[in-house]
Amino acid sequence: MNSSDQLSPDIVEMVQQPLEQLGVRDVTAVSSLFSNIENRLQSELLAMETLASDFRRSPARPGALPVTSGRDVATALETLRVRWLGRKQGIIRSITDNWLAPAPSELKREIGQRVNGLRKEAEDRISQIFLGPEGEVAPTIETADFVKAGVIPAPAAALGTDRALDITLPGNRRPIGARHPIRRAFEEITDIFLSLGYSVEEGPEIESVYYNFEALNIPEDHPSREDQDTFYIDANTLLRTHTSPVQIRTMERQKPPVRIIVPGRVYRRDAPDATHSPMFHQVEGLAVDTGITFADLKGTLDHFMKAFFGSEVRTRFRPSFFPFTEPSAEVDISCIFCGGKAEGCRICKQSGWIELMGCGMVDPALFAYVHYDASQLSGFAFGMGVERLAMLKYGVEDIQLFFQGDIRFLHQFR
Ligand code: DAH
Repeated sequence: MNSSDQLSPDIVEMVQQPLEQLGVRDVTAVSSLFSNIENRLQSELLAMETLASDFRRSPARPGALPVTSGRDVATALETLRVRWLGRKQGIIRSITDNWLAPAPSELKREIGQRVNGLRKEAEDRISQIFLGPEGEVAPTIETADFVKAGVIPAPAAALGTDRALDITLPGNRRPIGARHPIRRAFEEITDIFLSLGYSVEEGPEIESVYYNFEALNIPEDHPSREDQDTFYIDANTLLRTHTSPVQIRTMERQKPPVRIIVPGRVYRRDAPDATHSPMFHQVEGLAVDTGITFADLKGTLDHFMKAFFGSEVRTRFRPSFFPFTEPSAEVDISCIFCGGKAEGCRICKQSGWIELMGCGMVDPALFAYVHYDASQLSGFAFGMGVERLAMLKYGVEDIQLFFQGDIRFLHQFR
């Protein structure tokens, strides 16, 4: 019986026995004993490498025999690691305890060198199998299973510093974001009007004087046209000061009836403070059809306010003026903070009412610009500031918070 046969049945059992008992008494015998153990390690590593690389090459070949799962590969690798490198019962540990420690001094050096060689080989190759041929943790093998199985003994040391993998470090978190409150307000407003049969239109933020002012019946000498109120790009081009130009653009493009809302960004030369920003958002509305009356306008906006702020909210329409509507009105809601009490509160300035938006019946002059028949058609329009609505509804006290990107503020809208 040669020594290799002697090793095959159970190498684990053999390394429990003292060298004496195995008849190993000199350096030559030690050397051939280790050669056999090294061969055994090599063949077990090779078998494992083949298993892993087969799996990597075709993790799920269609029509193939049931393939080894990543979990199976991980388990096999872990079994191999424990068998050779296990801290308590591993083969290498047993050799150290049972052969190296009690060895006579003339054999110590040889046994020491060979067992170190075994350990290094086992560690390197097992890590290598784990990492895959490209030096990356094999993407096709379920990495979590390797980690769970504890396949990486001492990560940094076993894998080498250049590809150190410390599984005890916290993972990379990708924090879940939140919808920006302005976006959220847009969506809430839009949903209400979509349910009333409106559709959503958009228009350019860089607008012409014609659409922003002229076709909206805003006269040459109107203060909003002044340089100090508007960002001009050239004499005919500007950053739109409101979303109303999309009324004209839509009517130019489509035949009546029209029922649209226009969410969008607008610009004015305002110094920033708690209630002003040179850029802000509006939602414009326009309904044009035959037989539309002021009652339709009131009913629509009353419904909107109740849907947005709550059914207890009351609305009030006060006469006002806009060049593109006639008659025009400001819409107030009963104060949502004090419930619209007669004596009011600080927020509604003791009036019980909060001013929210402008509206009116479309001025027939606009129909002339878009070649609509003013004798047949009528309509209403409205425009609201989204920041203002959002501040009231979400209890935001400073408009600047919307634009500072402060995560502590934004997180509150998750
Ligand atoms: N465009 C007006 C503004 O920015 C708001 C507005 C008022 C729009 C009345 C309208 C409206 O459509 O009818 O101040």
